[in-house]
Amino acid sequence: MKTWSQQTREEGKTLGLVPTMGYLHEGHLSLAHKSLSTCDRTVVSIFVNPKQFGPNEDLDTYPRDLESDRLELERLGVDALFLPTSEDMYPEEFQTYVHVEEITDKLCGESRRELFRGVTTLVLKLFHIVKPYSAFFGEKDRQQLEVIRKMVDDLNLDIQIVGLPIVREPDGLAMSSRNQYLGNTERKTAKSLNEALQKAQQLIAQGESSAETIRSRIRTIIEREGQAQVDYISVCDPKRFEELEEIQGKTMIALAVHVGKARLIDNCLIERI
Ligand code: PAF
Repeated sequence: MKTWSQQTREEGKTLGLVPTMGYLHEGHLSLAHKSLSTCDRTVVSIFVNPKQFGPNEDLDTYPRDLESDRLELERLGVDALFLPTSEDMYPEEFQTYVHVEEITDKLCGESRRELFRGVTTLVLKLFHIVKPYSAFFGEKDRQQLEVIRKMVDDLNLDIQIVGLPIVREPDGLAMSSRNQYLGNTERKTAKSLNEALQKAQQLIAQGESSAETIRSRIRTIIEREGQAQVDYISVCDPKRFEELEEIQGKTMIALAVHVGKARLIDNCLIERI
């Protein structure tokens, strides 16, 4: 990978990197499309990163379908697929981690302690190996995107980080590799995350400015479905992830909800002037 990416740079070509954990869906493909249309060459990496899973999480059952991913990426015209093994990335003597402080303590970082340290360590390694001009991430994981931006800023990396909008199923559910854990009735529950976000946006547009009212309306919509177990409902500022009392200026509404075996996340950004 290092040799290929160096050759690409020597040819004066820009390189786009799309880091993924595989089991690709339209959301991932939109990142690859963007890279293909804005960079000369595109690398997609597939690596189910063990360092970002907690001990009781779904590392072993995380969906994988390398053959179908490979075909899809070939069809799109992606130039290289990077498939490191765990031993490549984390040999036995591995002991260096990258940790972004403060903003990783909030939201997903609060309930998934290993998550962001694992993500930033892996992503920084990918950046060093591939040395991309741009790297592409989805806004469904908006906290992850901000954590990566922070790492890039704080460590003076010369990489353009591009965030792209959430891609949704026709019923509004944000696309995720973990959606395949959902059975039929769970799927109905899962839809309520987006419905709750839509309702929240509508209430805010009608003048509601209390963050607590919004949180409580969202909870009612999600818990109505029965099978949902809320991890968090957040109305916060979109950079520092601090909870707000009053909705003013740029605001993020973010949710994490367990539905059956799946832990689903979704979010939206609003701006109130
Ligand atoms: O968003 C993901 O799929 C992963 O967290 C990432 C960025 C590929 C790192 O493993």
